[in-house]
Amino acid sequence: MVGDSLFEDTVRTQMTHVAQLSATFGESEASADALYQQLLEAARQSGGRLLIVDMDGKVTFDTFDERCGTRLGLSEVFSVLRGEADSDFGFHQQEGADRKQAASVLDWLTGRDLNQVWVGCFVSALVNEGQRVGALALITSVQETVDSLTSMRDQMLGVFSAALVVVLVLAGFISRIVTKPVKELSAGIERMSKGDYQHRVHVPGKSEMAQLAAAFNQMSEQVYHLDEARNQFVSNASHELKTPLATIKILVESVMYQEDMDPQLRREFLGDIDREIDRLSSVVGDLLTLVHIDSHKLRLRREMMIFADTVRESVARLAPLAQKRGQTIQTDIADMCEMFADPGKLAQVCYNIIENAIKYTPDGGTISVTLHRMGRDAVLEISDTGVGIPPEDLPHVFDRFYRVDKARSRDTGGTGLGLSIVQQIVRLHAGSVTVASKPGEGTTFTVQLPVK
Ligand SMILES: Nc1ncnc2c1ncn2[C@@H]1O[C@H](COP(=O)(O)OP(=O)(O)OP(=O)(O)O)[C@@H](O)[C@H]1O
Ligand SMILES: [Mg+2]
Repeated sequence: MVGDSLFEDTVRTQMTHVAQLSATFGESEASADALYQQLLEAARQSGGRLLIVDMDGKVTFDTFDERCGTRLGLSEVFSVLRGEADSDFGFHQQEGADRKQAASVLDWLTGRDLNQVWVGCFVSALVNEGQRVGALALITSVQETVDSLTSMRDQMLGVFSAALVVVLVLAGFISRIVTKPVKELSAGIERMSKGDYQHRVHVPGKSEMAQLAAAFNQMSEQVYHLDEARNQFVSNASHELKTPLATIKILVESVMYQEDMDPQLRREFLGDIDREIDRLSSVVGDLLTLVHIDSHKLRLRREMMIFADTVRESVARLAPLAQKRGQTIQTDIADMCEMFADPGKLAQVCYNIIENAIKYTPDGGTISVTLHRMGRDAVLEISDTGVGIPPEDLPHVFDRFYRVDKARSRDTGGTGLGLSIVQQIVRLHAGSVTVASKPGEGTTFTVQLPVK
């Protein structure tokens, strides 16, 4: 664009100039000598070479005195002589400038020949009395314009290449900044998919990537805990199943290999085996219930029911057990608590808590069961005068497989699943269960369930 405007400028000035000269010389009545002098003067002023060509294209005047009598074979001359245009111009390369400039790498690359110079030929028709008699050609060097254009082009190329390098370096830098956290994250995800849940990704700052990394870390933390909980659950469950199985194996082997065993003893052993099998099936039942609740497969079979009846039935089922240990169960029911709930599941809640009360209360103790309404809730309280639970164990009694006194539980046969099942069922009913206890004095479990 810059080149075009530069050349347009040159062409306009020279064309006007040559048009003025041709107008003067076309109508001139001067002698050949005088004309030649005038031409020389004009050529000197315009700093170029002036030639006059007749209608045959032959040079009649040349201010350089070189081409007189020869033909000037330039297309712009012909087009003017043929009458295709009143004036025309063209640019040509000419041999032989003595230029002391050294060739640059760019000249070499673009194939520029420093021995060649550019000249412009500006031609205008010579008209005498309305008749075209020849043409006037002004030949001037345009090498200066070409040179300044070339140097401008070289400079621009230099600036652009430098800018390109800077942009490339910057782009590389920025893309590294952007892709580094993505790489970190995908490496983290890969490690996680291979089972490494303890790996955390570090993306500093507050960008979206940093937030994503924080969310990812939180997720892997949760997965880690879930994984740990699952492993714990499996190992606890296996342990609970292994103990009764080992006992059964010893008892069965004794019966098998002692052929002369006392029938009384044999019956006792078989009774023990039977009890261990009962224990096994109760543990398996509890585990299945928990797994069902965990996998959200457990659906409550809700119906209109009277909670008071459920409580009474559970007390009646456990009464023989309490009786055997000389314990009294006091029942105080102040409200029927009609509600829309799953009677089977609530019966299990009552059974588990009352069974605990009986199990963890010494012979001759008292267990009290009360049911009343408080606002929109049914409140079931089960208290005992038993051993109680130490304060440090209270927060854990609802955990799976948690037993306060491991040794004592072996005698009472507990697995540590009863209360966690209670808590899950109560939660499914949108209720809550709490415990309060004083070691040595007794324990109170409170179940609160929404009636509507
Ligand atoms: N009324 C209570 N008095 C004292 N300790 C209790 C009472 N109820 C529960 N606990 C303590 O809480 C622990 C957890 O009770 P949970 O019912 O979950 O398990 P468990 O009774 O040992 O076994 P099971 O799965 O057979 O019920 C018990 O082992 C016991 O130590
Ligand atoms: Mg229990």
